[in-house]
Amino acid sequence: MSLSLFSSQLYRDAVDRLTEAGIGNAQQEALWIIEEASGITRLQIYAEARDVVDLETYQRVVSLIERRALHEPLQYVLGSQEFCGVDIAVKPGVLIPRPESELLVEEATLLLQSYTQPVIIDVGTGSGCLAISLARALKHAVVIASDLSFSALQVAKFNAGKYDKNTQILWLTGDLLAPLSSSSLAGKVTAIIANLPYISHEEWDRLSPDVKDFEPRLALDGGPDGLDVYRRLLHEAPSVLAPDGVVLMEVGVGQVDRLREEVEASQFFHVRKIQSDLQGIPRMVCLQRISHS
Ligand SMILES: C[S@@+](CC[C@H](N)C(=O)[O-])C[C@H]1O[C@@H](n2cnc3c(N)ncnc32)[C@H](O)[C@@H]1O
Repeated sequence: MSLSLFSSQLYRDAVDRLTEAGIGNAQQEALWIIEEASGITRLQIYAEARDVVDLETYQRVVSLIERRALHEPLQYVLGSQEFCGVDIAVKPGVLIPRPESELLVEEATLLLQSYTQPVIIDVGTGSGCLAISLARALKHAVVIASDLSFSALQVAKFNAGKYDKNTQILWLTGDLLAPLSSSSLAGKVTAIIANLPYISHEEWDRLSPDVKDFEPRLALDGGPDGLDVYRRLLHEAPSVLAPDGVVLMEVGVGQVDRLREEVEASQFFHVRKIQSDLQGIPRMVCLQRISHS
């Protein structure tokens, strides 16, 4: 990119660089990046503004454009992704929240709003998007969030600190439900919310480089058939759930039938509801604990 200190020229150079790198939506993305990094508005750019961009701003924009030109996801470059109406900070090491995961928040909110004080655990919280949205939607709930990744939890706590200072979320580090199993909440959890890794090895090979090279494998890789982590969760869930507790899980394309077989084999749950996302893909599975008493 040539050195130009006019905002309109900066925009043209940015579009050229992104186009050359094969970024499909180059014009829109250049605008987003320039607005985020410089405070220059798209109106100024459209007006062919000849306002001078200082060197520091120029270098900041160029470095972000270069990251995007190397196909780093736009959300990492911009540093955030909107989820359930909230701006969630993300950075490499933390999964970018996906719109289909909002289904988990919608279903949990519908299901739990009539409870006096539901206890919810968001297992594998990542950026904290689910825990924060649930705490905002269900003010009367006790919300716990856990992750194996310490760095993801740091980002989640930062995100929670940006909103509702009064909302208390209990943050735990560890493998699946292990951090809860010896706590006083074991046996009292109303709902487990789980968007855990579910990408199979076959699917992993087909993932786009934008995802595979930048998003954390720990957040995506669910083992050979994608269900390794969910199998372990099903095994651990009965010891922390209340007798009428539920598990809400997000699953991948074509996984519902295999998951149903696992659920039936466990004899602790039955499938209460399956909800499809906006593309018609069965995405959210709600399991109801079977009472053996
Ligand atoms: C698919 S990401 C989902 C993140 C976030 N809940 C969301 O919806 O965007 C899965 C998350 O589970 C975490 N994770 C993976 N294996 C885990 C395990 N065994 N125990 C706890 N967390 C785990 C990853 O670090 C990652 O943050």
